[in-house]
Amino acid sequence: MCGIVGYIGRQIAYPILIEGLKKLEYRGYDSAGVALLCHEGLKVVKAKGEITVLEEKVGQSFPAGNMGIGHTRWATHGAPSDVNAHPHCACTEEFTVVHNGIIENYRALRHWLESEGHRFSSETDTEVLAHLVEHYYNGDLLKTVQEAIKKVEGSFAMVVMCRGENDKLVCARRDSPLIIGLGEGENFIASDVPAVLNYTRKIYILEDGEFAVITASSVQICSAECTMLQKEVREITWDAVAAEKGGFRHFMLKEIMEQPRALRETMRGRLLNGGREINLSELNLTPEEINDISRIYIVACGTAYHAGLVGKYAMEKLLRLPVEVDLASEFRYRDPLLDEKTMVIVISQSGETADTLAALRLARSRGNKVLAITNVVGSSVSREADKVLYTWAGPEIAVASTKAYLTQILSLYLLTLYLAQVRGLLDRQELEKAGEALFALPAKVEEILSREVEIQDIAAYLSCWESTFFIGRNMDFAVAMEGALKLKEISYIHAEAYASGELKHGTLALIVEGIPVIALATQKDIIEKSLSNIKEVKARNGYVICLAQEGTEDLQNEVDRVFYLPATEDFLTPILSVVPLQLLSYYAAVARCCPVDKPRNLAKSVTVE
Ligand code: F6R
Repeated sequence: MCGIVGYIGRQIAYPILIEGLKKLEYRGYDSAGVALLCHEGLKVVKAKGEITVLEEKVGQSFPAGNMGIGHTRWATHGAPSDVNAHPHCACTEEFTVVHNGIIENYRALRHWLESEGHRFSSETDTEVLAHLVEHYYNGDLLKTVQEAIKKVEGSFAMVVMCRGENDKLVCARRDSPLIIGLGEGENFIASDVPAVLNYTRKIYILEDGEFAVITASSVQICSAECTMLQKEVREITWDAVAAEKGGFRHFMLKEIMEQPRALRETMRGRLLNGGREINLSELNLTPEEINDISRIYIVACGTAYHAGLVGKYAMEKLLRLPVEVDLASEFRYRDPLLDEKTMVIVISQSGETADTLAALRLARSRGNKVLAITNVVGSSVSREADKVLYTWAGPEIAVASTKAYLTQILSLYLLTLYLAQVRGLLDRQELEKAGEALFALPAKVEEILSREVEIQDIAAYLSCWESTFFIGRNMDFAVAMEGALKLKEISYIHAEAYASGELKHGTLALIVEGIPVIALATQKDIIEKSLSNIKEVKARNGYVICLAQEGTEDLQNEVDRVFYLPATEDFLTPILSVVPLQLLSYYAAVARCCPVDKPRNLAKSVTVE
């Protein structure tokens, strides 16, 4: 996720900006830049790569200005490059902008601004903000930013610097974080607390819809209607290490908690009107191409493969097309059967996994078009695929994948509903119902996260065992596989996932008194079948921890523990049911003092075979 730093005061801005950007490195980035305002004018330097590359480019003779803005970019629109790095200027260097978030309607805005004579130099969505400010400038930077923002759909945390008003920085926020650090004769802006901790522990947290004008000696915060707001000054007590993780003990927990936001970002611009409309025109798939698909092949590794399994159930149910899901390491060596009507989808958070990349290349070498679902713009997978559907989860730092998995599933749902829409498989009402249910999911994930304590309690029981089982039918089986993987990779507890109906074909021999069996029973239409498998476990004195939807309360008499999920459509339950499983793994690993973010023998990105 991009990092923003702004400074205005009596010190030389450049070293403060660089230090602040370094403190935000944990957020992940692919390029960096600074804009400094000084007597000689504006100086903007940007570089692809690490902050040290930027420092080399600036050299020792940096400008001695007392105000500036800096940015680390995590590419969304436009590949990582010097030109696409922030800050962005408008046609002249009068206005400079840094931004975090996604401008949904940037294409339309860019088109309109170009017709008004504006010239763009990057591929980014951010650059429209600079030109909008330039377009509307009326001699008052704050009012101009407020006017410009009215045109913008999407999320942003932004800071604007104006050469003609060189005593202030103006910032605004909608759905992306921004804080203001309060100093003596100097003030700071940042995406996150670590960037300012060396200078101040007093901050304001800017809320959605708020604007701020920051000078060296004052901070004024106002609403869109220009009402001045009295904000509470917060005192930060975290140490620098905790601050990097937003106050969380581990990146994994931070990323689990970020999931509602990751889902909303991934829906943005794709699920419109409260979910009633699905728009994946970004894929540029023609109706002929969509109608021509006779089979779908999903290829991925690990957690991404598990997301593919959920996709299979959703696609087969709604599209009535055969869907095969394969592990990339298997696919690449087994001469897969592909014909020209097979749509190949690869899924990869990092976009660099060696087996997934090889599978993509194999499919393309057979003449198949490949659609990639990935989280990293500019990654190998994104560059080599024919079509890309990005998950907007933001950088995932913990080795165990959480928010990427949720957004991969969401992307597969969006794709499924979009294909169903174009193929005329669902009528308007059915589509709207599914879309609305999808749209409601982030709030339901929030609700689950707020009940973390319930899970902590179950994790305490689980953490004392060396072996566990996860069972479920259909989609629940796919999620059970992910739950088992999460538990074993971070807590080192042996965990096996089984299709519930398979237990009696062998595994039941391992059920002994007290052994934890996590039973997913979220599919209402087969709840009785799931229940009969639960009873098989209970009859052997296994300890059943059940996940079910609200509305199936009679279950609690049959099991030892139950966690009720907010009710949703059966085919959407994986987005909810995996969240308690992630928390369960996390708290079990913490109870066992495991190195949660960096489990032994594992790497975040598996770039070797
Ligand atoms: C497990 C995990 C891995 C990855 C797998 C694929 O928590 O993170 O199983 O899912 O290595 O990685 P990507 O999605 O980057 O291709």
